[in-house]
Amino acid sequence: MTDPRLSSLLQDCPGLRLTTEPADLEHYGRDWTRRWTPAPLAIALPGSVEEVQAILRWASAHQVAVVPSGGRTGLSGGAVAAHGELVLSLERMNKPLAFDAVDRTLTVQAGMALEAVHNAALEHGLIYPVDFAARGSCSIGGNIATNAGGIRVIRYGNTREWIAGLKVVTADGQLLELNKGLIKNSSGYDFRQLLIASEGTLGVIVEATLRLTDPPPASNVMLLAVPSFDVLMQVFAAFRERLQLQAFEFFTDRALEHVLANGAQAPFEQVHPFYVVTEFAAGDQAQEDAAMAAFEACMEQGWVSDGVISASDAQAAQLWRLREGITEAVARYKPYKNDVSVRISAMPAFMAQTQALIGQAYPQFDVVWFGHIGDGNLHINVLKPDATADAEFLDQCEQVTKLLAQVLARFDGSISAEHGIGLVKKAYLDSTRSAAEIALMKAVKHAFDPQGLLNPGKLFDL
Ligand code: FAD
Ligand code: MLT
Ligand code: ZN
Repeated sequence: MTDPRLSSLLQDCPGLRLTTEPADLEHYGRDWTRRWTPAPLAIALPGSVEEVQAILRWASAHQVAVVPSGGRTGLSGGAVAAHGELVLSLERMNKPLAFDAVDRTLTVQAGMALEAVHNAALEHGLIYPVDFAARGSCSIGGNIATNAGGIRVIRYGNTREWIAGLKVVTADGQLLELNKGLIKNSSGYDFRQLLIASEGTLGVIVEATLRLTDPPPASNVMLLAVPSFDVLMQVFAAFRERLQLQAFEFFTDRALEHVLANGAQAPFEQVHPFYVVTEFAAGDQAQEDAAMAAFEACMEQGWVSDGVISASDAQAAQLWRLREGITEAVARYKPYKNDVSVRISAMPAFMAQTQALIGQAYPQFDVVWFGHIGDGNLHINVLKPDATADAEFLDQCEQVTKLLAQVLARFDGSISAEHGIGLVKKAYLDSTRSAAEIALMKAVKHAFDPQGLLNPGKLFDL
């Protein structure tokens, strides 16, 4: 540990776990984007709120940039440290702290994995309903900092809906206790909501009080084969009208091919252009009849060409794997990821324009479509051919994203539905947020972090 600044950090925060091992710098300096070369100053692994405060006081005194870091499953480069920043990993702060049966809240440290939060809630007969495939590795702090969505937004909303309180350490080391678990609180600006989706640029979330709810009734999972892109939203309407949906997700034949190549089992004998995985309440005969009615109505219209319904939990998991396995299955192709959203009512027209644009723009690339179509959220992943150089591929993708951002702006959509802006989408922030909004965001950033030390270069440049 040769950098003299680190000796002073250890003086200010005796006993702090700090590493500069090359393997650690590499490991903690990047996230799932794998686009930037990690080059952090060091990795701090505090074990308490007081240590986080001491680190930030030190960083503020010595003008050292800090990257808050959770599970680094982020897909927008938000947790990347490529310019000598101190990575502040919440990994060791991963415990449940308190459960309140009357409030139905669970207070946890920010480094707790999402899946561990699920399990802790279940121990009390309740659920924390935000869920997605990275559940085993992402942290609740990272989920809050990105306002993570996932596969159950259609039923339960985004992370934002489930946060009753936050403890946050500011850039100068102060501890803020935001909202303190209250349901009603009209006492001025809600900094808790401001911290949600702030991507580590306003403060370090150290604890969260999460709202819990009752487990859902018994459910069934259905996989539908859909003959064309144009009818996906009709299928959605037919199912939503008749059933209490817990999820409504889609993917293409190309996505399925990659998941099958990664070891999953083919669901149908024939290949179909599009697939939907939907989960819905199915606790009684009336609900099961409604599911069959939805399916038959779609078959009659020609909107669905085949279907399979889960007969056991194991089958339900198998069907889910076809959708949830996509990210991992395509990861080796260093995909260029688009994560866009529009209002559900605008989806049919938006999808038609986007499909035309993408079809023309990428005749030579493998493009994998999937996503949370019931929330108006599409993931469009462009896979890099092995023979194409990284820089050339990136350049072509960025040119197309400029056009996609223009389409989105016409639809009042968002360039980042759920992954965050980070480094990956910061050049396109102005397609979604007005100049006045961005100016206000920068003013807020300045108020919280006047020296610009928290996650600099993410979201926007100052
Ligand atoms: P990190 O990647 O570590 O950090 C993300 C951002 O949050 C960074 O800007 C970081 O600085 C900041 N941050 C982290 N912790 C804190 C903290 N304690 N205080 C302040 N800032 C902090 N996302 C979805 O929304 N929906 C999905 O369906 C989904 N599916 C995924 C599936 C897979 C297989 C993978 C790999 C990723 C998926 N993601 C999804 C993206 C990712 O998992 C989420 O963005 C997640 O919320 C990131 O959590 P993390 O702990 O890994 O955060
Ligand atoms: C998903 O919905 O599976 C995630 O957002 C991950 C991804 O986009 O790859
Ligand atoms: Zn997603």
